[in-house]
Amino acid sequence: MTSTISTNAGLTALQVMQDAPVIPVIVLNDVAHAVPMARALVAGGVRMLEVTLRTPQALACIEAIAREVPEAVVGAGTVRSRADAQSAARAGARFAVSPGYTSAVGQACRDVGLALLPGVATGSEIMMAQEDGFTELKFFPAMQAGGPAMLKAWSGPFFDVRFCPTGGVSLQNAGEFLALPNVVCVGGSWLVPADAMAAGDWKRITQLAADTSSLRK
Ligand code: 3PG
Repeated sequence: MTSTISTNAGLTALQVMQDAPVIPVIVLNDVAHAVPMARALVAGGVRMLEVTLRTPQALACIEAIAREVPEAVVGAGTVRSRADAQSAARAGARFAVSPGYTSAVGQACRDVGLALLPGVATGSEIMMAQEDGFTELKFFPAMQAGGPAMLKAWSGPFFDVRFCPTGGVSLQNAGEFLALPNVVCVGGSWLVPADAMAAGDWKRITQLAADTSSLRK
């Protein structure tokens, strides 16, 4: 997909979702892996990168990617608090993804200028996010919480919401999600397997990213 988004401009959640069919969910344990991993994904055509705040090195990894890989757009995943949003923005993240939704996290992301993809798994959570003005949401954990059937059911009452299902999504089932009108993209960790990262097998990561180009929205 040819993107029109400048890698320097402020982003909307919809732009983050529309850049490619898959947003990789990345867990980094070593700062030295951050830049080659980001370059490997970009080489495979995937440049919206969600680095999860799950390891002590995550913020330093975001910083390194933001500084050294201008072709990538780095975001922070696992944003669960105001403090997470603030430190992610300081590190150079351009967007945030949260596993659930609170108004405090929504407001914090607005305050620091981060586009947010809030996580939801129930109708009430969708309504809370919508009340706060969020209409592009992450459905998490997608397979465990009902999969494509859940999204079909939501398309009635929540006709004005668009989703990025994440959790249990793979190259094999991504197409089924992407075929739904209320799905813009999917998220998944399969593009960045821990063993490939540990072995420095960047070619494999580029190949996994390139394999997603067969997916169509
Ligand atoms: C996440 O951690 O945000 C998602 O659970 C990633 O899920 P996956 O590992 O099943 O792709």
